[in-house]
Amino acid sequence: MTHSKNTRLLHIGSAPFDAQSQTAGVGLPSIRTSTVRFKSLDALEQAQQRRARGERVVTYGISGLETHRALEEVFMALENGTYCVLNPSGLASIYLVFMSVLRSGDHVLVSDSVYGPVRTMNETLLKRLNIDLTFFSPSQDDIASLIRPNTKMIYVESPGSLLMEMLDMRALSAVARAHDLVLATDNTWGSHVYQPLALGADISLVAGTKYVGGHSDLLLGAVVTNRDDLAQALHQTQYAMGNAVSADDVWLALRGVKTLAIRLKQHTENALAICAYLDQHPKVSRLYFPPWHKDPGHTLWQRDCSGGNGLLSLSLNASANDAKTFVNALKLFGIGFSWGGFESLVQWVSPSALSSHRYWNEGDRGVVRLHIGLESVDDLIADLDQAFDAMSDSR
Ligand SMILES: Cc1ncc(COP(=O)(O)O)c(C=O)c1O
Repeated sequence: MTHSKNTRLLHIGSAPFDAQSQTAGVGLPSIRTSTVRFKSLDALEQAQQRRARGERVVTYGISGLETHRALEEVFMALENGTYCVLNPSGLASIYLVFMSVLRSGDHVLVSDSVYGPVRTMNETLLKRLNIDLTFFSPSQDDIASLIRPNTKMIYVESPGSLLMEMLDMRALSAVARAHDLVLATDNTWGSHVYQPLALGADISLVAGTKYVGGHSDLLLGAVVTNRDDLAQALHQTQYAMGNAVSADDVWLALRGVKTLAIRLKQHTENALAICAYLDQHPKVSRLYFPPWHKDPGHTLWQRDCSGGNGLLSLSLNASANDAKTFVNALKLFGIGFSWGGFESLVQWVSPSALSSHRYWNEGDRGVVRLHIGLESVDDLIADLDQAFDAMSDSR
């Protein structure tokens, strides 16, 4: 009998029964270890040979043990994939993808709405390694015309960072297939409700730091694929880079995932209620949230996603400077990076970050990104209301 994804997520990581007592803990313990012991040198040699053939065999703690295996299965279930490599952060997962797929002299196309630090990675690392990167606008550029003989990968994020630009993954996949390119995507926003691998992507990565962990108490990432060749490259590069993940963080993520579906449902419900409030507010120019029916990406979201979450942005009928007053006045929304935890957060979006997103066409309006948490919606609306008032008073 095949169970639904939700049911599988609840049961992955159940501890096995003890042969003698015939009992088992509900969950696995956090198996903390730096190394493993082999019964004999023969056993060690066999393990090494299997590892060399690309099998997922543990010869040292960097590959993780049973706790890690269970979380890998979680991400495979979430992303509909057959291989998973864990990383110490979402950002480390992004680096791993670039380092696994690209060689010196290669070219990569990157959508201009990706997570900001990808630009830093380009400046600090890729240029030094003689890897050439071109940013493109998924909505405005003819991507095929940007492909060069040395292009190896298209790397995207859907919905994109800051303005939640929905990308047409199937169309991107058709271009990637036609030119024999790897299509990799950051699926942190969509994990559990969006399955890029099923839409033709080759690699999907997730910052488990956000909704999978769900409590803002861990950093973790995962890279998932269905392709044997990419899985081997990812595993080898992860090991070569020494990207180990703490078993305690893995254990926290395993616990977090048990409530992922129900949390996402509530985050989405709260976010849509906040959208309904913001939509009629005179100080709000536009909302950026694909589950909201007025978002330009809503049709694609309806086609490709099965749900939403709490991350949205809004532009203001006010300047970026006035947006700072609004952000400073908020009391329930913590000012900070990241998102996906139980709590509401706010981020002031700098005009320089927006200027590199060609999806942005609202000139010098101020933009604020909100993570709508699990607090009571009425309290969140009251907080937003008084912050809008504070912005008006300061003018
Ligand atoms: C879309 C996206 N991808 C990746 C990351 C990186 O995740 P981490 O904070 O675990 O490095 C973030 C973090 O904010 C993100 O928003």
